[in-house]
Amino acid sequence: MPTQENDTGPTPSCSGQQSGATPQFYDVSRTYQWNLEHSPREAAGEPRGRNQTASTNAQTGSLGLVPSPDGAEQQLGHDRGFTGESNPSAPMTRSGIAGAKWNFFGHVVDSPLGVAAGPLLNGDWCEHYADLGFDVLTYKTVRSVARRCYSMPNLQPVESHVMTGFESEVRTCSKMSGSWAVSFGMPSSDPLVWRKDVERTRHRLSRRKVLSVSVVGTQREGWSLDQLAEDYAKCACWAIESGADMIEANFSCPNVSTCDGQLYQSAEESTLVAQCIRDAIGDAPLVIKIGFIEEMSSVQKLVSALDGTIDGFSMTNSLAARVRDDRGNLLFDAEPRGICGRGIREQSILQVARFRKVIEQADSQLKIIGVGGVSSGRHVDSYLKAGADACHLATSAMLEPSIAMRIRSELINESNSNGGSLVDHC
Ligand SMILES: Cc1cc2nc3c(=O)[nH]c(=O)nc-3n(C[C@H](O)[C@H](O)[C@H](O)COP(=O)(O)O)c2cc1C
Repeated sequence: MPTQENDTGPTPSCSGQQSGATPQFYDVSRTYQWNLEHSPREAAGEPRGRNQTASTNAQTGSLGLVPSPDGAEQQLGHDRGFTGESNPSAPMTRSGIAGAKWNFFGHVVDSPLGVAAGPLLNGDWCEHYADLGFDVLTYKTVRSVARRCYSMPNLQPVESHVMTGFESEVRTCSKMSGSWAVSFGMPSSDPLVWRKDVERTRHRLSRRKVLSVSVVGTQREGWSLDQLAEDYAKCACWAIESGADMIEANFSCPNVSTCDGQLYQSAEESTLVAQCIRDAIGDAPLVIKIGFIEEMSSVQKLVSALDGTIDGFSMTNSLAARVRDDRGNLLFDAEPRGICGRGIREQSILQVARFRKVIEQADSQLKIIGVGGVSSGRHVDSYLKAGADACHLATSAMLEPSIAMRIRSELINESNSNGGSLVDHC
């Protein structure tokens, strides 16, 4: 896919057209269901249920070589002293991408890079992005019941201004310039389907890859918060039983108007739900995904309420705003949608810094996954410097599927030219 470099990272084009019959990335001109049924792996005719050796070979295939610090090429997927064993009690340590040892919630991985919840619609998509160099694969948010996707447009390009988090509206634009409004409504396949798929996916992925499953509770009419919490916990428990390495509970979705979309805004409610999930999944790592929080006092409340129950935060889901087209009409029934991509990066990095400060002041071990607008090694470096322990990508991973390889190279180059600055701040 053609990209155009500038100082804030590449500007992806987004025509939705792909050459040849084999889609290599999410086709925005088609429905969610079509993309679910036409993963790159499916289209390439690869058999489902590949074994682990095949997966490892694929990693060392066309995309398998990355420059090592001394300029030689390293092969991804080759054993560089990894045991592949996990140790959830181990501290999150980062010895730098050049040293290729990153501890992600007790799992040793090759890089700080993961795919955020969203682009990986099922196990085939997870495998595809694992082969493309991502080390943490977040399985798109699942529910305790099947749920259809909202109607198109699901991905509406918007003007890519740097956002403040307080915009009530954003403007559409005809071409993708880095930001879009996301409108899926967290669809889910039936639990019988996704549970089997998670199990198969964990089986097929290399042990060096982490499979995180994103879950959300589904609010039913008249339900109490306890019932919603149990619904979250049920999904989390099913995911762990199916082999997920960890759970990311989505406490923030600006595209749904029920309280499951706003949970993170209440420390008390977040704690109640998180505790219920914790009780259901035992020691498995638990991260909660949150939206924008500007007030330092709210950050302090959330950190102190959740410390001891969860293992970390993933932030920032998106910035919510209503979307107005060039004829002056508000899209999506005038409801806000989550704006993702370039426009939210600055605020998300600032938010990571706020949380890191509070976490340090509280002498807490909570970790942070930085999410929002990452499309270059420099962006990853900025997140890490702000206090993130890892970086997950959604928008740019969809638009430039090979981006993990590019970012890995950029991080290595950056580290070399700064005399190992990445390693230093790790
Ligand atoms: C197509 C798409 C679908 C998404 N679906 C989910 C989802 O199901 N659950 C969730 O927690 N976040 C979802 N997100 C939000 C992303 O995980 C991420 O927080 C957000 O896109 C910001 O990262 P980015 O700027 O790299 O896109 C979705 C994002 C995109 C682009």
